[in-house]
Order: sequence, then structure tokens, then C-alpha cells
Amino acid sequence: MRDLIFALSLLPFLQSVSSCPKECSCDAHSNLVDCHGRGLYDIPRKLPQEALELHLHDNRLRSLGSTSFRDTPHLQALNLANNSITVLSPSAFLGLRHLRVLNLANNSIRELDRRLLVSVRNITVLDLSFNSLSGLPGAFSESFHHLTHLSLHHNRLTKVDRVHLEALDNLQVLDLKANPWRCDCHLIGLKLWLETFTFRGGVLDSAVCVQPPLLQDRDLRLIPYELFHSCMITSYSYLFANIHYLDSKHRSFLSGPALPSPHPHLTEPILPECEPKPRPRPANYRHAMATVVITGVVCGIVCLMMLAAAVYGCAYAAINAKYQRELKMKEKEAGGGEGQKNIQEDEKEPLEG
Ligand SMILES: *[C@@H]1O[C@H](CO)[C@@H](O)[C@H](O)[C@H]1NC(C)=O
Ligand SMILES: *[C@@H]1O[C@H](CO)[C@@H](O)[C@H](O)[C@H]1NC(C)=O
Ligand SMILES: *[C@@H]1O[C@H](CO)[C@@H](O)[C@H](O)[C@H]1NC(C)=O
Repeated sequence: MRDLIFALSLLPFLQSVSSCPKECSCDAHSNLVDCHGRGLYDIPRKLPQEALELHLHDNRLRSLGSTSFRDTPHLQALNLANNSITVLSPSAFLGLRHLRVLNLANNSIRELDRRLLVSVRNITVLDLSFNSLSGLPGAFSESFHHLTHLSLHHNRLTKVDRVHLEALDNLQVLDLKANPWRCDCHLIGLKLWLETFTFRGGVLDSAVCVQPPLLQDRDLRLIPYELFHSCMITSYSYLFANIHYLDSKHRSFLSGPALPSPHPHLTEPILPECEPKPRPRPANYRHAMATVVITGVVCGIVCLMMLAAAVYGCAYAAINAKYQRELKMKEKEAGGGEGQKNIQEDEKEPLEG
């Protein structure tokens, strides 16, 4: 009896050191803990601390709370695919400093908190495919200097600002297909970046436009710049995006790794959205229009000056005639002695008038 009590009191201690939860199978040699496909709603407790790889895919996890993996701080690979995760605490991955591979595919993630990613900075493979992401968090790329594989296919992305990707210096494979890309002026930055990425040998699946109708089913990289021509004239955001692009390109080519971008907000939409439009009127036509307008303005000014001169001339003639008439009448009336004084007074009249 005493032995039994002793053994029972020892049981939790033994479990916490190195046992395997009953929902999982543990391989002591490879330190793989496999809990996939068990219909789990929660992460099993008392996972072996020395685990390097943890499989939790094909379960029913709905959320990840703060420091969900505090039992397993040495994890290098974590598979959470095929669950129903919607809520991710910003500190869910806190402590996973050695994580290299993170698979979150086929969940229901709508957005990522940038704090979430800061805790897993050394990640090299990140799979976010088959989720509901409509954007990437700010400073996304700055968190992931070691990232080589990024999967974002089958999400709800309509645009991605280049600043989110351009610091991914080590990226080799990028999956973007099956997103509802909206190929307007805001996507020029991404187009430029994707061209540079594939030029450097990066592997990209595709980025097919869904909007606008004119560009539906076209690959963003293959759309001629001609169709974005109106963006260059009408959109300041295009201008800013390109100043920023050239700036960062110089930085990364001339001075090694790119620095964090100082003004990421500059590439945010400044003007209302614009879509690629038909070619604007040719330069000759605009030149002719300008000439006509300037000629019109000059003619107008000349006409006004002539009109003013005519009015002034008529008024002067009328006043002068009236003055002469009055002068003659007064000369007749006065006749003799006081005549000279009257003339002197009359002479002041035109000046006072
Ligand atoms: C996503 O997960 C569900 C089950 O959770 C599964 O039926 C479906 O086939 C998965 N889809 C992909 C593309 O893996
Ligand atoms: C997710 O589920 C689908 C279908 O059940 C399966 O083909 C796929 O391999 C699973 N993904 C992972 C990462 O386990
Ligand atoms: C990232 O990995 C490097 C080695 O590649 C290591 O020195 C560094 O401590 C790691 N960073 C974190 C946050 O664990």
C-alpha cells in the first residue's frame, strides 16, 4: 500500500520530465512528437520538453493562446495545418527562438499581428496558404531575414505593398496564386518587385489578376507597362512608390542588405484608386491645345486694353467738348469788367472735375 502511494505520488513528476501525452506518439530518437489527426480541440499538456518537431495538423484547434508552446522551447518545426485556427494570440509563439519551419496552412486566419512574427524571427519556411488573409502586417519582411520559402496562395490578398517583401533577402520560393489580385496602380510596386525577384532566380508560381475586367486572368508580370501608363501621370502614389523603389534598390545593391524602410506609409494609397486606362491623348495634340489656350488669353488681354483705351478716349472727348461749350457761353455772358475773374475760376473746373 505504501509502495503504491509512493508510485502514484511519483507519477506526475515522471510524466513532466519525459513522458508522452496519451494523444501523441513520441520518438525519443528524432525527438518528433506526433499528435496529428486525433480530433484535438486543445494542445496536449505535458509535451516532452526536448521535442524538436511537433505535429498537430489535422485536428480541430480553434485558437492559440499566449505562450502555447512554453513546454517545448526547443522546437524547430511546428505543423499546425488543417485545423480551424482563427484566433492567434500575439504571444502564441513566444519562446520558440529556434523555430525554422512553421506550417499554418488550411486554417481560417484573417490577419497576422506583427508581434506574433517577431518571436519567430529565425524562421526559414512559412506556409500560410489556404487561409483568409487579406493583407500582411507592417514590417512583415523585416521580421524574416532568413525566410527562404513563403506560401501565401489561396488567400484573399488583393494587393501587397512591395515594402512587405523587399527585405526578404534570402527568399527563394514564393507562392501567390489563387488570390483575388486587383491589378491597378497600387500593384505596380509588386509587379516591379516580382520581376526583380524572378530575375535574381527566385521561383514564383503566378499572380493572376481578378480585377479590373480588362486584365482578368492575366499574369501580373506579363501585363505590359503601357497599360499602367496612366498611373504615371495621374497617381502620386506611383511616383512615391518608385522613388522609394529606386532608393531601396540602391541601398540593397550598393550597401549590402537593405535597411528597414524609413517611410513605409509613403506607399500607402494617397490618391483614390485608379485603373489602367486607354492611352492618353498624344503629346502633339496636347501641345496644340496649349497653343490655342495661350493665344486666346493673349488676344483677350489685347482686346480689353483696346476697349479701355476707346472708353477713355470717348470720355475725354465728351468732357473736353462740354468744357469748350461752357467756356464760350460764359465768355458771352460776362462781356466786360469781371470777365477775367470768371475765366480764372472756370479754368479750375476741369481739374476739379
Ligand atoms: C483543409 O482541411 C480540411 C479539414 O480540416 C480538409 O477536408 C481539406 O481537404 C483541407 N484542404 C486542403 C487544401 O488541404
Ligand atoms: C491537409 O489535409 C489534406 C486533405 O485531408 C491533405 O492532403 C494534406 O496533406 C494535409 N496537410 C498537411 C500539412 O497535413
Ligand atoms: C537565429 O539564428 C542564429 C543562428 O543562425 C542565432 O545566433 C540567433 O540567436 C537566432 N535568433 C534567435 C532570436 O533565436
